[in-house]
Amino acid sequence: MNPHQAETKIKRTANALAINTKVSVLAPGTVANLVCGFDILGMCLNEPNDLMEITLLDEKKVIIHSADGYPLPTDPAQNTAGAPLVEMINELDTPRGFEITIHKHIKPGSGIGSSAASAAGAVVAANHLLGNVFSKRDLVRFAMFGEKVASGVKHADNVAPCIYGGITLIRSIHPLDIISIPCPSLYVTIVHPQIEVRTKDARQILRKEVLLKDAIRQWGNIAGLVAGFMQGDLDLIGRSLEDVIIEPVRSILIPGFDEVKYRCKEEGALGGGISGSGPSIFMLSRDENTAIKVEKVMQEIYNRIGLEYHTHVTTINTTGVKILQD
Ligand code: HSE
Repeated sequence: MNPHQAETKIKRTANALAINTKVSVLAPGTVANLVCGFDILGMCLNEPNDLMEITLLDEKKVIIHSADGYPLPTDPAQNTAGAPLVEMINELDTPRGFEITIHKHIKPGSGIGSSAASAAGAVVAANHLLGNVFSKRDLVRFAMFGEKVASGVKHADNVAPCIYGGITLIRSIHPLDIISIPCPSLYVTIVHPQIEVRTKDARQILRKEVLLKDAIRQWGNIAGLVAGFMQGDLDLIGRSLEDVIIEPVRSILIPGFDEVKYRCKEEGALGGGISGSGPSIFMLSRDENTAIKVEKVMQEIYNRIGLEYHTHVTTINTTGVKILQD
């Protein structure tokens, strides 16, 4: 569909021949914003992943279970996986529903796309069981309802890369216009200091106005980052990983942020910054050796600060949510 046209919603018929009624999926973590692209850029990760099991029901309802004791809301409308499924089943002309069990490995409030993994995993799995009657773009449209539950606002910079894989640019959400950005293979190091930053709060502290000189610098960085990914120009990627609007405000919520950023770049990282709304910090590196050295620096800093943390060294996931078994 031409993204400039208004959205038209047509009732879909679930594939009557669907043999499988149960599926498991791995729903990956994501890094939203990619430093300068607040709400418009995101990247899918190979680690960490949530595991979700979904069963197709022949009545119009959504049932949610948490497998590992996380106090997830079980009212579908209040659950980041449930709300997108409620939207999806409302667009079917046959009564269908889903029962979901979520094994949450991506901690809520981590900045690694926990709510997006639940939302994207649920809609990809559900669509698989319905016989893939919805497009990826439809799935992003549904999954954004999960982000609205989590942060009060619809944004697609976690759910789009989680569903499409790789790096995505969300040029617009009204109407949805998603562009996959080709990128070189890079390593990603993430540190998750064990404090919780709620996306809702991290959005509320942002200034509502931006100085024109800051906007110009940010536009240059976004364009430079996209060009750097597309041309495989690692130095350009590194130079463009700069945020003069959001990071100066949000970084005060993250102990050790400035030191992590400075020391990781000294160690050879191309650059990085806050992952999503934090508190996780991500760094991109050209090779695995550097990514591991960067991890050691992060560990050393948080050991010294005395704050518990988890780290991941991973790569860019180019395929998004993975169907495991029928
Ligand atoms: N773009 C969103 C934000 C991502 O930074 O608030 C939240 O994960």
